[in-house]
Amino acid sequence: MSDNAQNSPDITPEAVESAVEAALAAIGSAADTAQLKAARAAHVAEGSPLAVLNASMRQVAPEHKAAFGKLIGQGRGRVTQALAAKEAELAEAETAARLEAERVDITAVASRTPVGARHPLTLLQEQISDVFVGMGWEIAEGPELEHEWFNFDALNFDVDHPARQEQDTFYVDPASRHLVMRTHTSPVQVRSMLDREVPIYVLCPGRVYRTDEFDATHLPVFTQFEGLVVDKGISMAHLKGTLDHVARQLFGPEAKTRFRTNFFPFTEPSAELDLWHPTFKGGARWIEWGGCGMINPNVLRAAGIDPDVYSGFAFGMGVERALMFRSDVQDMRDMAEGDVRFSEQFGMVV
Ligand code: DAH
Repeated sequence: MSDNAQNSPDITPEAVESAVEAALAAIGSAADTAQLKAARAAHVAEGSPLAVLNASMRQVAPEHKAAFGKLIGQGRGRVTQALAAKEAELAEAETAARLEAERVDITAVASRTPVGARHPLTLLQEQISDVFVGMGWEIAEGPELEHEWFNFDALNFDVDHPARQEQDTFYVDPASRHLVMRTHTSPVQVRSMLDREVPIYVLCPGRVYRTDEFDATHLPVFTQFEGLVVDKGISMAHLKGTLDHVARQLFGPEAKTRFRTNFFPFTEPSAELDLWHPTFKGGARWIEWGGCGMINPNVLRAAGIDPDVYSGFAFGMGVERALMFRSDVQDMRDMAEGDVRFSEQFGMVV
């Protein structure tokens, strides 16, 4: 048809109308921008029937120019409009399709690593430490793999003291090195006295080891906190006042402590320490919590401190035991097994 038009450039209303109709049909049926581009090339661009008809205006007699000019101008106008409209429609449809394909559901729950929870023993240990730091005490640490001298001898244990026996203490090979997994935090008393100048006010929290069964009330690895004060004129009244304050801070304003006579090689006199626990689950009652006493002069001497000038007190308590009766934990093994569902019950404190 374009050849025909080119060869016989007669502009007739029919020729214009049929070129316009063909162009509109091609535009109307274009299903995507590629097809629309092809329609434009065939029906609008240079060489297309409409363009050829337009070019042949030159040969139209002057008296017909205005009428044919109008005819072809209107035809081209309709085609151009249809093209623009179709272009917009296709662009919109293609954008919508692309957005649909790239859709992301922002309401979907992302898979994340669970945040976990801090262990309640760690939390309680920090709370206990805070009470002592609040009184101006320092926190002291010592090694868990300890020399027998610090763990026993310097603390005035006889060579045949039952605690030294293999059924209580983890000895570490070779025996000639005299190393043990510390059985209590008391060796940190001796280390603190050797490391520091008097007066000394330290709290020594840490892990200790015993050849105990793993059952509801015993763990072979557990946690203690040890207190040590060495100063001039320290008496048992200071010890009692300190422990009562700590009890109130940790167990409420009605909490208090009481002493029952006992024996420890490193204290003289020594006492078993009971706590009055006002909010205990089964009702307020006394609970055995740890040991305490006035530092045995032999221990002060072993650490190079003159017992005629200085005196002091010490105490040691179990953190697992405290967590048990403070938070009504029935089985100590829950504290060792590392199941986050146990920790979560104590809150997600950071
Ligand atoms: N070390 C003792 C134990 O593990 C507890 C203890 C008792 C610590 C009396 C002390 C103390 O400092 O004075 O059983």
